[in-house]
Amino acid sequence: MKILVTGGAGFIGSHTVVELLNAGFSPVIIDDLSNSKKSVLQGLKNITGIDLPFYEGDCNDRDLLKKVISAEGIEGVIHFAAYKAVGESVDQPLKYYRNNVGSLVTLLEVLSELKIKNLVFSSSCTVYGQPDIVPVSESTPRKPAESPYGNTKTIGEDILRDTIKSGAALSIISLRYFNPIGAHPSAEIGELPTGVPNNLVPYITQTAIGIRKKLTVFGNDYNTKDGSNVRDFIHVVDLAKAHVSALNLLKKSEAPFYDVFNVGTGTGNSVLEIIETFEKVNDLKLNYEIGPRRSGDVEQIYGNVDKARDIMGWQVEKTLDDSLRDAWAWEKKINNK
Ligand code: UD1
Repeated sequence: MKILVTGGAGFIGSHTVVELLNAGFSPVIIDDLSNSKKSVLQGLKNITGIDLPFYEGDCNDRDLLKKVISAEGIEGVIHFAAYKAVGESVDQPLKYYRNNVGSLVTLLEVLSELKIKNLVFSSSCTVYGQPDIVPVSESTPRKPAESPYGNTKTIGEDILRDTIKSGAALSIISLRYFNPIGAHPSAEIGELPTGVPNNLVPYITQTAIGIRKKLTVFGNDYNTKDGSNVRDFIHVVDLAKAHVSALNLLKKSEAPFYDVFNVGTGTGNSVLEIIETFEKVNDLKLNYEIGPRRSGDVEQIYGNVDKARDIMGWQVEKTLDDSLRDAWAWEKKINNK
């Protein structure tokens, strides 16, 4: 089954491409390389031994989508392509709505026109906002988004739900990702942040390698186990495998079909625990200090992931130790160390 992977050169997309191949699917990549590099394709080739079909372009480009889907005989789509920097979305909301929401609408129109049934959408635990109780499950009410970026995920889910309600001949799953970290164990692909990383783990690995002087922990006065924020950190390979499970469920489903799944570990770890575990598994000391809170941060969130286990038959296989070991191996590899 040929699967179009939009944003397939990105962090989660590239790892998903590998797991699709492992599971017998044939991935085809579209990526505009706005937040990824062409070198990812070489990493993918080193892992899989295959030159994957790659199209450089934007998912707002209706003609390109139609051309690729028809020419490649695509039967399903995983739609990763989106911008994801929270702060930037506050400064440039229209850029986010145009790209994240616009491309989803274009894609849905093209899928309906070409009668392609299966779609997996990248959503985020950001749709839960600041939760009242943790862990959050899929039935936990969503909260108004804290940023335009977050709102594009909430709106994206609403667009999909309404499309299915209208009776469209589509089967769609939204996966609500928690915090993906780590890298492929081969160290051939991983996270490639542009500029100063916003996310915790790339900031940690860049500090450990000497690119950044010091990590700042954004607050230790939260009402959590050790005062730092709590998140659900999931190995990117486990997250990638959830897409394979989602496609397998979609294949069996009868359109119109829509469902939503949390994809996390089910466990919350604090920022300080991440630092401590990173130091322990990699046998090093990290230079860090406690700083003020970052505005907009959620105090604590982690997911109940029983639904993904019970309905998709998916569960995590890797540990936090694996994630932080693989993240460090990748950072060393890209710095030739
Ligand atoms: C962030 C976004 C989320 C988005 C995800 C995409 C916010 C509020 N949320 O999640 O919507 O889906 O990125 O990847 O921005 N931390 C530090 N020091 C650092 C960096 C981070 O202490 O230098 C802390 C943060 O305060 C937070 C935790 O590490 O408590 C994780 O941060 P991050 O990796 O940015 O992810 P989220 O904020 O959970």
